[in-house]
Amino acid sequence: MGTWRALRAAFILGSLVTSLLIMVYWDDIGDLTLSPLQGRGNGSRQCPSCPRAAAGPRLAPSTDRTQSTSSFAATTAAKLTVEGTTGTTEEQKQGEEEDREEQREEEEEAEEETREGEERGRSPASVDGREQEERKQRMMDVCSGKDAAEFPGRTRTFEQIPHKELDHLIVDDANQIIYCYVPKVACTNWKRVMVVLSRSLISPSSGKPYSDPEAVPPRLVHNSTLYHNLTSLMRPNDSQSLHQMAHRLQTYTKFLFVRDPFVRLISAFRNKLDGANEQFYRDFGRGIVRRYGHVSGSLPESVSEAIAAGLKPTFQQFVTYLLDPDTEKKRVFNEHWRQVYRLCHPCQVKYDFIGRLETLEPDADRLLRLLKVDHLLRFPSGPHNRSAVSWEKEWFAEIPVTTRRELYKLYEPDFELFGYPEPDVVLHP
Ligand SMILES: *[C@@H]1O[C@H](CO)[C@@H](O)[C@H](O)[C@H]1NC(C)=O
Ligand SMILES: *[C@@H]1O[C@H](CO)[C@@H](O)[C@H](O)[C@H]1NC(C)=O
Ligand SMILES: *[C@@H]1O[C@H](CO)[C@@H](O)[C@H](O)[C@H]1NC(C)=O
Ligand SMILES: *[C@@H]1O[C@H](CO)[C@@H](O)[C@H](O)[C@H]1NC(C)=O
Ligand SMILES: *[C@@H]1O[C@H](CO)[C@@H](O)[C@H](O)[C@H]1NC(C)=O
Repeated sequence: MGTWRALRAAFILGSLVTSLLIMVYWDDIGDLTLSPLQGRGNGSRQCPSCPRAAAGPRLAPSTDRTQSTSSFAATTAAKLTVEGTTGTTEEQKQGEEEDREEQREEEEEAEEETREGEERGRSPASVDGREQEERKQRMMDVCSGKDAAEFPGRTRTFEQIPHKELDHLIVDDANQIIYCYVPKVACTNWKRVMVVLSRSLISPSSGKPYSDPEAVPPRLVHNSTLYHNLTSLMRPNDSQSLHQMAHRLQTYTKFLFVRDPFVRLISAFRNKLDGANEQFYRDFGRGIVRRYGHVSGSLPESVSEAIAAGLKPTFQQFVTYLLDPDTEKKRVFNEHWRQVYRLCHPCQVKYDFIGRLETLEPDADRLLRLLKVDHLLRFPSGPHNRSAVSWEKEWFAEIPVTTRRELYKLYEPDFELFGYPEPDVVLHP
């Protein structure tokens, strides 16, 4: 009996000591697996339950699971720097050409002004704040089905979104930011800002991460290895990864920029199909001309030959392509003309800030303040020469009104979600 008591006492004592040890060292154990991502921010700004290995294995297969994003980013950046400096003259020339192309795109994005242009005059802070609330309220109303057209995916939950459709949501864990990028809506400049904030790209001249968005070469920022996106961070059937995702979506500052849907469409057409873009000619232009321009026989191999032969797609052919049910069946819309509601899932992701290209400067100022980075960087300034003409009338001149209305139906959710009025000049001439 005495032995039994002694054993029991020893067992209880042992358990107590073990519990005590666990309590004392719990923080360290937690740190081992749950240490937040490293980066510009520190302490309270960081995600308390996001392991640093978040996307490590997939993005950087050669590194171990505990490597942080910043060292991953530094590796990426170092690679990019090396590439930048070892490139041949030919490659450099091509790079500069691409930069100019990007620059032109940005300038185009900034050039255009639409109906909301006049709003810029009246934007003291209080009005700004109310405007954001109104934009968000409007989005919630449309999402709840109030006085708005039905659209696919409106009522699904975040979990029901196929993971591959989350790839436009760029995540910066260190700064707790999620940016949904929409092509043709100042996305190059916002990506430059994201690259500076996440310190993921090293400047070859200083050897340090870029600190000024304007100094970041535009052609480099579309390289997806510079960012984590929600698709790459999602691990199927992993409850931990789902939990982290929910945490990110709840606590991070989430933003996107939108613009008038028809003007965005015209801009995409001008930039990708009307200009001399080899890739888009091969992937889309040629097929569009063949099918909707009813051109038989062989079409030119290169875009320059096509331009010379007058065989570029017209805006009308492009619109016919968009409205052809076969287009979606074969392949989802290219991101340059995919609707914002399908790129950014505004009914599932509760955005904190909705910027508009039409009020880019005041919106950018306001967002940088909201992100608390306004003392660190400035949004790259575009040329301040916005034409006051509405483009739509001219571009749609050749297109039958019934076709215009069908096209409106296709983009109606974007018009409604983001508060762009029905373009009467196009639909009811
Ligand atoms: C972390 O935060 C402390 C206090 O807020 C600050 O003094 C320190 O410089 C920060 N470190 C980094 C790496 O940002
Ligand atoms: C993107 O960056 C990676 C890693 O630095 C590099 O290997 C790759 O070639 C880049 N891609 C493009 C299209 O520049
Ligand atoms: C999302 O991230 C993955 C992994 O890094 C990458 O392969 C993919 O291209 C990214 N998608 C986009 C649209 O950037
Ligand atoms: C995830 O789970 C579902 C059902 O439980 C299963 O059908 C699917 O194959 C799993 N996916 C992976 C990648 O394990
Ligand atoms: C703005 O652009 C128009 C035509 O593109 C040009 O004529 C005008 O001089 C420009 N204005 C400024 C201030 O640059």
